Amino acid sequence: MSGLSRRSLIGAALALGACESRAQAPAAPVEIAPLRAAAPFPLGVCAQVSHIEDPDWVRLAATHFSQLTPEWEMKMEYIVRPDGSFRFDRADRLAAFARAHRMRLYCTTLVWYAQRPEGFEKLDESRTSFGRAFDAYITAVVGRYRGQAVGWDVVNEAVAEDGEGWRESLWASRLGDFDHMRRAFDVARAADPEAVLFINDYNLETIPKKLDTFQRLIERLLAAGAPVGGIGCQSHIDASLPSGVYTRTLEALARFGLPIHVSELDVSLVRAGRRPGLEARQADLYAEAMGAFLALPARQRFAFTLWGLRDKDSWLKRENGRDAPLLFDDQGRAKPAAAGLADALGALKPVGSLYGNENRAL
Ligand code: G3I
Repeated sequence: MSGLSRRSLIGAALALGACESRAQAPAAPVEIAPLRAAAPFPLGVCAQVSHIEDPDWVRLAATHFSQLTPEWEMKMEYIVRPDGSFRFDRADRLAAFARAHRMRLYCTTLVWYAQRPEGFEKLDESRTSFGRAFDAYITAVVGRYRGQAVGWDVVNEAVAEDGEGWRESLWASRLGDFDHMRRAFDVARAADPEAVLFINDYNLETIPKKLDTFQRLIERLLAAGAPVGGIGCQSHIDASLPSGVYTRTLEALARFGLPIHVSELDVSLVRAGRRPGLEARQADLYAEAMGAFLALPARQRFAFTLWGLRDKDSWLKRENGRDAPLLFDDQGRAKPAAAGLADALGALKPVGSLYGNENRAL
């Protein structure tokens, strides 16, 4: 379906939605085919244990997605207990769910400035015991999912917010700014020789200096022989992003020739000022992101992951309850955003009627 007919379909859906009272406004009535069947690469979604316990979430996610990323229960904040011991109960449940639903398991994250578990900070000041604990953590976690995890975000958000250098972190201060990253990749590789090891970051679309510093860091890691096997572009964007910016960002990252993971895509309306007409712009950005990813060589299309299934599942709801950044509304109905992405995949179906459609896989 051409972009023009997509826009007319989306426009009609939005117009219909606009004419309803706010209380009963139906989800924009679009029908999409199962996205996972239409995508020639893994289509991912993040999940928490509370999601896989929700039959509606499971039905919708299993219809459209072929890869799963634990949203937080495979991170240090859940795994590392205050006494320094590890717990894997929830990560194991998410891994088992992925296996049972024929989804690849992608894991995040091993080393992140935002996580400084008490269990680590209790160690004595000597680098030896801290370094041993660092290695032991990565070895235990990566080793546990060896043979199932297709990849890991080994180093997450290492570049400073303004792009001026790298972030401070517990890991950098104890084990060295660059050395802790190099070490994390080496230890992860030893724990799982097959998993694709990624470096992952965000706001690469909107802060040119950050994109540049991220690219320089990748070059330095590769030059040092670190087994960086892929590049993650988180893609937390908003509906004010001008056309073409996302495409140029992905093209810049793809120049390394490595697999690219669109790892955490969502398109905030609130961060763009939540003004009328933004839903159509949001749909266009989902279409652009998918088009930019489809334009990559097949060997570089690692996976395309949405950071949430339904609007109510989004982390952005904590920032502003009115945000609606994802493909499906709170009731799991496909929105114009889903139509945009589906259209780019050739999975958009002309609706039978524009009213009262529940989203259902055809
Ligand atoms: O579910 C528990 C709840 O039972 C408990 O009462 C509450 C208070 O402790 O915590 C709840 O868990 C929270 C969880 O989100 C689910 O809401 C965790 O504390 C909270 O830390 C966790 O936040 C996650 C955050 O990363 C930190 O891990 C978000 O879900 C997740 O969306 C966010 O994802 C990050 C990526 O990893 C990196 N890129 C940015 C992205 C958004 O911040």
